[in-house]
Amino acid sequence: MATPQSPLSYPPRERPTRAEAIVDLAAIRHNVATLRDRAEGAQLMTVVKADGYGHGIVPVAAAARQAGADWIGAAVLEEALALRDAGDTGPIFCWLTTPGEPLTEAIDSGIDLSAGAPWEIEELAAAVVDRPARVHLKIDTGMSRGGAVPEEWPALIRVALREQAAGRIEIKGIWSHLAQSDEPKSAINEAQLATFIEAIAVAESFGVEAEFKHLANSGATLELPETHFNLVRPGIATYGLSPFGHALSAAELGLRPAMTLKARLAMVKRVPAGVGVSYGLTWTAPRPSTLGLIPLGYGDGLPRHASNGAPVQSAGGRRSVVGRICMDQCVVNLEDDDVVAGDEIVLFGPGTAGEPTVDDWADAARTINYEIVTRLGPRIPRRYIDTSPADTVPVEE
Ligand SMILES: Cc1ncc(COP(=O)(O)O)c(C=O)c1O
Repeated sequence: MATPQSPLSYPPRERPTRAEAIVDLAAIRHNVATLRDRAEGAQLMTVVKADGYGHGIVPVAAAARQAGADWIGAAVLEEALALRDAGDTGPIFCWLTTPGEPLTEAIDSGIDLSAGAPWEIEELAAAVVDRPARVHLKIDTGMSRGGAVPEEWPALIRVALREQAAGRIEIKGIWSHLAQSDEPKSAINEAQLATFIEAIAVAESFGVEAEFKHLANSGATLELPETHFNLVRPGIATYGLSPFGHALSAAELGLRPAMTLKARLAMVKRVPAGVGVSYGLTWTAPRPSTLGLIPLGYGDGLPRHASNGAPVQSAGGRRSVVGRICMDQCVVNLEDDDVVAGDEIVLFGPGTAGEPTVDDWADAARTINYEIVTRLGPRIPRRYIDTSPADTVPVEE
């Protein structure tokens, strides 16, 4: 019996008006173009893993291609194959597989894959049917995630060259990932870069001719030109969010945040001083107050850690979430705002109209902007707009 699958998104009925995440594809294109400028001379891979950091993998990839992304980067096979199913025929790199995953479809779809251990090369070679697997060899330059550590690098290269000679793989790239590019001045970046350069030299001394060398994520694409080689892999900056936290803002980097999260108040009530709010009654109204019920909670990806403090914007201005964020709902202190059920609340947006930003939510939850957008769940419909040439033109999904 087939196992029921949970839907990745809910079927388009009448569009729910409860809440929506609006994604500006013009902002995505602008950010991709900005990143291309910053990495002049290198090809650009737009990273769209985790459903395009919550923005929607297929529309983001299409917008990135329009803006000149040479490659699309995906973490897992399902993402890479979803892009092919959606009609993306360009270069795609996918770097995270586990033993026993079915690799043949990806190989036959021309998806570039990563290998960081001899057994990964052997699995790829064994999965080859019609065409050789396109492989990027991963060196662990110090992050201790995937990849071969320098001591194991020669063994990986030998197996890769053997399988290449047998016609089962083609070595397309050498790559690694930086642990601390969000602090561009950190000595760790220099050390990783030196290890990467040494790994390339070792590979070449064995006779490897890899067309692509890549190391740079957003932080490095923006601030460490010496890490660009001939391909960069930015993710977060594509979405108009800074990888540098408070040190360097999106605006300072010339990036435009692409997502706005809105909800309509499910209920509004006036309460007297002394009334407690939400589970545990962790907040008590200090004076008579108007409370609004936001129909979004941690079941939608709002971080519960942002309870008692997350900012939102109502008609009256900046207001705070009070009490604990629940699974489906949370409460905002609207103070004395003149609002009614059905009125709109902006949880975050680009910040250009005074609304809170993704970074404000990250601060309230003591996390990073990546997590705020990526966690938004399938109950929140994504609506795509294109602010150029005309504002808020809906785009066919
Ligand atoms: C291997 C790899 N490359 C590139 C990226 C993009 O990183 P960022 O979003 O910091 O630009 C990621 C994301 O973490 C990654 O795992």
